[in-house]
Amino acid sequence: MKIKNICCLGAGYVGGPTMSVIALKCPEIKVTVVDLNESRIAAWNNEDLDNLPVYEPGLADVVQEARGRNLFFSSDADQAIEDADMIFIAVNTPTKNYGEGKGMAADLKFVELCARQIARVAKNDKIIVEKSTLPVRTAETLQTILDHTGNGVKFEVLSNPEFLAEGTAIEDLLNADRVLIGGKQTESGKNAIQSLVDIYAHWLSPKQILTTNVWSSELSKLTANAFLAQRISSINALSALCEATEADVDEVANAIGTDSRIGSKFLKASVGFGGSCFQKDILNLVYLCRYFNLPEVADYWEQIIVLNDYQKHRFARKIITSLFNTVSGKKIAFLGWAFKKDTNDTRESAAIYVAEYLIEDGAEIHVYDPKVSKEKIVEDMRYLWGLKGYTDQKIESKLSQIFVYQSHEDALDQSHAVAVLTEWDEFKMYDWNAIYANMYKPAFVFDGRNILDTEKLISIGFKVKGIGKG
Ligand code: NAD
Ligand code: UDX
Repeated sequence: MKIKNICCLGAGYVGGPTMSVIALKCPEIKVTVVDLNESRIAAWNNEDLDNLPVYEPGLADVVQEARGRNLFFSSDADQAIEDADMIFIAVNTPTKNYGEGKGMAADLKFVELCARQIARVAKNDKIIVEKSTLPVRTAETLQTILDHTGNGVKFEVLSNPEFLAEGTAIEDLLNADRVLIGGKQTESGKNAIQSLVDIYAHWLSPKQILTTNVWSSELSKLTANAFLAQRISSINALSALCEATEADVDEVANAIGTDSRIGSKFLKASVGFGGSCFQKDILNLVYLCRYFNLPEVADYWEQIIVLNDYQKHRFARKIITSLFNTVSGKKIAFLGWAFKKDTNDTRESAAIYVAEYLIEDGAEIHVYDPKVSKEKIVEDMRYLWGLKGYTDQKIESKLSQIFVYQSHEDALDQSHAVAVLTEWDEFKMYDWNAIYANMYKPAFVFDGRNILDTEKLISIGFKVKGIGKG
């Protein structure tokens, strides 16, 4: 089938950029992105391209070219579903925070709602594409819902997981290492796969487009994220050993990364990985392994998360012990709150957990992030403390220990210590002499990303602690 009309359910970090690029590269296809969240749709339609709901380098240019031509953002999901030949499901699949599988399993209620809505509305045959990250065998569930509540319409379900990383989403979409398309190995399944291959073939070469059966595709997404996160936890585990032995973790990473069998990427030691994907997807993988009665396999993957939690707390503890065993009443300046540079996304950011640990010890946290608003930071902390069951009164009292600024100078002024939580490039350019002059002495820098020039900082007078630096 030649696709003329695409609908995408979910206008978030994946749905928005992915559909923008498809629309850019396939001008003959109408692409409509819908969302339950009307304010998010309004923001995608914002005239001011600096205020799109997702910040990604290059995204505004793509939206500017395609929006209104063949790319549309709408709240009328029923109409978009009815008109579409192909429907992408790109809704959130967070970790369940209630009931069966709480804290581990993926919450598929949003995906299920999409399937029920499609089944209710559809009047002609459609291809349904899983773009959200889903547990292996979800396509079977979707097919069951679609087949049993539909209007005699035929649905083909494909799996097409997204591998983009935030901060480089547009580049990743335009120059993907690969796209993966899984489908049934029947004639109609193969035809559906071909329809999606034809879309990506507008800008990717055949060797960048992999096709598999549905289950391999679904499982490959969880596996890819588990492998990537495992490398970070491995180097972070070694960073602790480096600190105990005076080895330098960046030198070790460089030495092992030049072995072509190991490779150099994803070996940057840090305060711990964050983001909406790694933790959620590994917990989901662990849950699946336990479900299929594979406890040793589950324990193996779970250790990645255990180590990541250890790394975040180890960083926070180092701040406390270095500041003479207490941060009570002390001003700790945070440079960065986003989970990585070049994004406004803060989901599962290490900063949240480091802040919580220090606030428990009585610290005042003074934050500056180039792209994250005060409202978002407050929302992150409220959510965390809400999950812990804290009363509103207790939450408000703890929030009074957090301050957010529009400039780094204000955040750093009269602070006892600086902690770098995100690797924003601008932090390297600051006037560190001026910063030192306005801090309490001894002035500490805790570089959770190993991005600052340690020797220069020491020569200014700072006491510097990096990750994995003896
Ligand atoms: P997100 O929270 O930014 O966006 C999801 C959107 O779906 C929200 O705006 C929400 O309002 C909307 N939504 C929920 N139910 C809906 C419904 N029934 N109809 C219409 N809209 C609905 O999430 P995201 O980061 O874009 O992630 C989406 C999926 O993609 C997840 O499964 C995630 O694991 C996966 N993924 C994310 C990334 C990433 O970097 N963020 C990368 C690869 C894969
Ligand atoms: C990840 C995957 O990379 C992507 O393929 C998938 O589609 C979604 O999940 P994302 O979470 O957006 O992407 O960013 P990523 O670059 O993977 O970084 C995740 C976290 O790991 C960040 O907190 C980052 O700072 C951290 N990280 C990354 C390290 O600490 N060290 C590294 O070497 C790499």
